[in-house]
Amino acid sequence: MPDTLMTADEIRETFLSYFEARDHLRLPSASLIPAGDPTLLLTTAGMVPFKRYFSGELTPPNRRITTVQKSFRTTDIEEVGDVSHLTLFEMLGNFSFGDYFKLESCEWALDLCLNVFNLEPERIYATIHTIDDEAEQVWLDLGIPPDRISRLGDEDNWWGPAGEEGACGPCSELNYYLGDLSDIPPVGHDSRGKSWGPGISDDFLEFYNLVFTQFNRDRDGNDTMLPSKNIDTGMGFERIVQILQGKSNVYETDVFSPLINLVATTAGVEYGLNDETDRAIRVVAEHGRSATFLISDGVVPGNTGRGYVLRRVIRRGMLFGRELGIAEPLLPSIANSVAESMSHVYPELRDNLSFTQQVLGQEETSFETTLEQGSRRLNNLIDRAKASGASQIDAADIVQLYDSHGFPIEMTVEMSADNGLDADSNAIEEEMEALRRRSRAAANVFSEDADADALYRSFGVEDVNFLGYRTLTADSEVIGLVVNGDSVREAMAGDKVEVILAETPFYAARGGQIGDTGWLRNDLAVLQVADCQAPFGHMNVHYCTVVSGRVAIGDILTADVDGERREKIRRNHTATHLVHAALREIVGSHVRQSGSLVAPDYLRFDFTHIDSLSPEQVTETQDRVNLAIRQNLPVEVHWTTYSKAVDGGALAFFGDTYEHEVRTIKIDAPWSYELCGGTHMNSTGGIGVFLMVSQSSIGSGIRRIEALTGIGAEQSVAARFELVDKLSSRLRVAPDALLERVDALTEELDQATRRAERLEEQLLRTTVQGDGDTATKHDFDLRLNGNVVPVRVRMVPASNVNAMRRTGDLLRDQIGSGIVILGSVVSERPVVVAMVSKDLANGTLHAGDIAKAVAATIGGGGGGSAETAQAGAKDPSRINEALAKTEQAVNHLYGERG
Ligand code: SER
Repeated sequence: MPDTLMTADEIRETFLSYFEARDHLRLPSASLIPAGDPTLLLTTAGMVPFKRYFSGELTPPNRRITTVQKSFRTTDIEEVGDVSHLTLFEMLGNFSFGDYFKLESCEWALDLCLNVFNLEPERIYATIHTIDDEAEQVWLDLGIPPDRISRLGDEDNWWGPAGEEGACGPCSELNYYLGDLSDIPPVGHDSRGKSWGPGISDDFLEFYNLVFTQFNRDRDGNDTMLPSKNIDTGMGFERIVQILQGKSNVYETDVFSPLINLVATTAGVEYGLNDETDRAIRVVAEHGRSATFLISDGVVPGNTGRGYVLRRVIRRGMLFGRELGIAEPLLPSIANSVAESMSHVYPELRDNLSFTQQVLGQEETSFETTLEQGSRRLNNLIDRAKASGASQIDAADIVQLYDSHGFPIEMTVEMSADNGLDADSNAIEEEMEALRRRSRAAANVFSEDADADALYRSFGVEDVNFLGYRTLTADSEVIGLVVNGDSVREAMAGDKVEVILAETPFYAARGGQIGDTGWLRNDLAVLQVADCQAPFGHMNVHYCTVVSGRVAIGDILTADVDGERREKIRRNHTATHLVHAALREIVGSHVRQSGSLVAPDYLRFDFTHIDSLSPEQVTETQDRVNLAIRQNLPVEVHWTTYSKAVDGGALAFFGDTYEHEVRTIKIDAPWSYELCGGTHMNSTGGIGVFLMVSQSSIGSGIRRIEALTGIGAEQSVAARFELVDKLSSRLRVAPDALLERVDALTEELDQATRRAERLEEQLLRTTVQGDGDTATKHDFDLRLNGNVVPVRVRMVPASNVNAMRRTGDLLRDQIGSGIVILGSVVSERPVVVAMVSKDLANGTLHAGDIAKAVAATIGGGGGGSAETAQAGAKDPSRINEALAKTEQAVNHLYGERG
């Protein structure tokens, strides 16, 4: 061990430079959102960004690569808080794609550990796969004694694949012995006969995994030999830091200590005094850190997939924060601390900090509300269990509370125990397992089915068959035809057929841009192309109807893209880049594209931002885009490597892969510089005009704008002009005077309404004051406990319920003590208002019951308080009938019988 301890930063750098010195290309960490891999929710290991290099589908930029990769695993989320489990961790890796293999990887691993990190050789133990004699020989040759090499089965020493398919193979792990060197039992059994050894007992920390990647596993679980042998290694960064800094757990290293201090200080407690408090501090620190990483990569809280993972860590972090007595949102300050200490490695932490903090703050606040509801629900469950004499709360309810309100099970169990209820831990575990199964099923998003994949691959398109960057028409050979999911030799008029051409000018929908439409034809056949997509990688599939003739494999067809439509799509795609750059300039650099739709008639752009854009921001963004259009800036297309593009400031989004060659689009770079495979204008001027037509929120932290360009924008402006012209001719003023005229009309209308209300009031007063028309008057006296209660029953010409109530007030004042029942037709429905004077509403009579009883005579209903109530029915022609039946109805309710 060196005299002075290495810092985490030094350790990371030492690893990467060690392999750089051995001809490895250093690449930046990829996003936590796996690029173009539908089988994987999050990047779980250093090899994930390279899956297609391992499978041989893509050629890597170098046959040796080294990285530090941010990785996320959810499998142990409930374990986080103990001393070793993390959701977010960094993985140091060296990779070989068909270059070096077992010997070199083992040799360098050991050299790095012993001669650079200066680990004590006697503490290093290797495990190998049960059948891997070759690996054993390599370690023996390198000097690891046989008693420190042990064999383990698939469970421990087989790695992969990450996701449902991909590279895998036997592995060998280096383990660090943490115990006393003077008293080491032999691997196998300790002095008490217990199984002892690396991979078995806690005395070892497994820290470096060397995978000898020789196989590709397909989705059916079949392993086939890869074209070349590869190496995938992963050194757990936090673990090697723990070892080299001589700590007993990862939270005491300088990776975590600033966060631990921050949480402890905020909670006003000291770390290291109490196990339970320490655990809570660790959970808050870890989850705050992992949430920060997820949001910086563009994940926002949600109820499914990645969004759910994020929501869970935020909620769990918060709950443990509350256990520590932290009431204020704390996660935003953790994000700040993480950005301060780690953004030199992961610049997105700093670039997106303010957005990250906003999302965390917002989620914490909204979870407060959820929590209150959850506590109420738990209290109800406790009350119900107690009332029914049950000794425990139903396990399904406990797990549901956890799932929907994020209540940790322990917390529910604890609160139940405080109320004298026990918990059936087996039943809870069963329910939890069922929940896990459900979330695993929800997490794996398969967009493609394996059979179809194999079918399309059989057409043998090796590379991109797209010609459409430079031409809209081309002759090409038919190499595949699919009807109803089956490969066919030919298709006839009327058939719906998927056509694969050797090459094509048709753009297949991807990256938000929708597919081209058009025609495929020759002398014998005409096919209309309704869409073009690439469901299985690079191959563009044309979705056609055979309009006439017949088409067969081997035919040559002329492929014609609908050029006018493509032109509109190009305008919208280039405008999407402009609006992205403009939003980042005007709204902030946290703005990141998180989805888009580029269609001929409009564009839709989703981006990370919390608040709605202010009217000024909308105008400024629109002006900025239109300025770029007027400047007629060239749209430059370049092919380069991913790292060069990203180093040069290109924006890469989810779905971008480490392809050897990536396509970049520059407009006034670095103002707008993006990786993009879409079709674009040659210069911005052709877009014509850009018009933002709407903005909305589509979920926490994501906003959506919709906009028009070119002809669509012109038509929309023209339609507005037409509308203004129509209005101006209808209102008989010039367009400039429209506002003034509308204001004047509104004012006139208000005055007229007020006048009408006054007249109505007068009319009502007359109705009330006069004796009323006998046809609409059904007054009577109610005999109640020997007293006579006057009941005024009137039809009133009121146009709204408020006017009825005011009339009722007048009548009630008139009679002092008694009942008033009014009927009217409001908005074509019969309405009854009942009122009871205060002295009688006091327990004797109830206006609600009266209104209900009266309306019931014509099949209606209603209710209200003891003093005032309202009821209604359907048929307006029956209101008089209801009033006529009132005496009977009220007598039935209250009258003295006999
Ligand atoms: N893929 C292996 C792991 O994650 C080695 O990098 O352990």
